[in-house]
Amino acid sequence: MIRTVPVGLGDRAYDVVIGPGLLDKAGEQIAPVLGKRKRVAIVTDSNVGEHHGERLAVSLEKAGVAVDVITIPPGEESKSFEGLQDLSDQLLALGLERGDQIVAFGGGVVGDLAGFAAAIYKRGIDFVQVPTTLLAQVDSSVGGKTAIDTPRGKNLIGAFHQPRLVLADLDVLCTLPARELACGYAEIIKYGLLGDFAFFEWLETNVRAVLDRDVDALVRAVGRSVQMKAEIVAEDEKEAGRRALLNLGHTFGHAIEAEMGFGDALKHGEAVGVGMAQAFRFSAKQGLCSSQDAVRAEAAIKAAGLPTTMADVRAEPFSADALVAHCGQDKKAEGGKLTFVLVRGIGDAFVAKDVDREALKAFLLEEGAI
Ligand code: GLY
Repeated sequence: MIRTVPVGLGDRAYDVVIGPGLLDKAGEQIAPVLGKRKRVAIVTDSNVGEHHGERLAVSLEKAGVAVDVITIPPGEESKSFEGLQDLSDQLLALGLERGDQIVAFGGGVVGDLAGFAAAIYKRGIDFVQVPTTLLAQVDSSVGGKTAIDTPRGKNLIGAFHQPRLVLADLDVLCTLPARELACGYAEIIKYGLLGDFAFFEWLETNVRAVLDRDVDALVRAVGRSVQMKAEIVAEDEKEAGRRALLNLGHTFGHAIEAEMGFGDALKHGEAVGVGMAQAFRFSAKQGLCSSQDAVRAEAAIKAAGLPTTMADVRAEPFSADALVAHCGQDKKAEGGKLTFVLVRGIGDAFVAKDVDREALKAFLLEEGAI
């Protein structure tokens, strides 16, 4: 079962194709969006390349596409100026031309780095996303955000650069560790929590099927997530308004990630799990949503094995002042005011632009910070 979700961006519109067995069909899917030379550089990391690289390259070659493969080290460290320099140098050494394309084949790190390289290589070339983690399939590969990190923060240097096509092969999720799958699920349930109560209810019932990689459940979960993201991106590509809703749970989550050093101890999706539960509890405390909704949202996040409190992720308490300071540095912060995505209920999120620092600190102290 294959589902195609269009992202309606005028002359930069593209499709997100979701389903099993897509790697073997990648050549026939990708060849039509390529330039005359039909030439690509696949950018992947050593883990993904080892498991699935051959299938993608063979499929492209069968469709008459000339393929080179660039393998980067796995891990967030590659999303750096050094990583970008190495990758750009390899692209230049291959002699990739303006009409050629990059195929970003991997998780969020590969997609963000290769996408940013495509945005600036010879002032910009096209690229295709072939995301291999659930998180990348439902979030980072769609919508054109590309970036690298700097020691001052994550994703601070980047560009909006939309892909020409996204191919989300659900079969590759079979080799994904359960922890990574749960991290992707955090972004899936985010869509229900922020704007689709019926989808949220479906996820409450079908969480096991999604995490057990049932193909029908995955097509529905990934398909609905991508459809919601596509609608929001088509309306607000550069995040001047509604796109910020996609950051539900991310400001709280980023603050915790920053305190824990963005390492393996706490993965992004896990931080988003805590962050979304906190966004609901904070909203309930502010009288914006019912405490029943906060409890129900938390239970649904927990059902996927995700953490929902700060104590779930670290025994040692967090500093409330440090967390508030991180929230103030968020990319969404405007004029020193704290911006959060808060909720009126499940499926009804909104952007709150003037969250009071003292109210936030009091909440974090109640949550166990000191
Ligand atoms: N990950 C949030 C966005 O793409 O806007």
